[in-house]
Amino acid sequence: MAGRESFLRLSLRPGTHSGAWRRALHGCVVAGLVTVTGIAGIGPVLAGDPAAGKAKSRPCITCHGKDGIGTSPIFPNLAGQKSMYLMQQLRAFRDGRRPSEVMGVIVRTLSDKDIEDLAAYYESLDPAGARPE
Ligand code: HEC
Repeated sequence: MAGRESFLRLSLRPGTHSGAWRRALHGCVVAGLVTVTGIAGIGPVLAGDPAAGKAKSRPCITCHGKDGIGTSPIFPNLAGQKSMYLMQQLRAFRDGRRPSEVMGVIVRTLSDKDIEDLAAYYESLDPAGARPE
């Protein structure tokens, strides 16, 4: 760790890095910004279909509620949750990266499109639990 800190101090000291280094660093920062804004920008285009997600959410109601509010203290609320997070979790359950006895079984048959639609649907719900009609 100390080694890394001194490397940082060294490489950030003005005049110690060449122009090429600085240009490369600048390129990284710009590329990073483009990536971040790029992802945010294409979000709505790639987003799932909330109406289709609603239809697909029927098997989820018992536990996650009709309004996306968990029906018991051990069932998490999904209403209003970020769709990107929901997709990550559903894929993680499906891949076994997030082990869950219950959800592992539920997501086994979900396609990527199902996951996108479900995530879009739950994101569209009011986190306070109001029912959309
Ligand atoms: C039998 C009850 C049950 C059903 C049915 C069910 N879930 Fe779950 N769900 C759970 C439980 C319990 C957890 C917490 C899992 C854990 O981490 O152990 C969970 C967690 C989740 C999470 C992660 C939430 C977070 O904050 O990380 C998502 C997303 C999710 N469920 C979506 C769904 C979807 C979509 C369906 C329907 C296709 C569904 N669930 C059906 C019980 C259920």
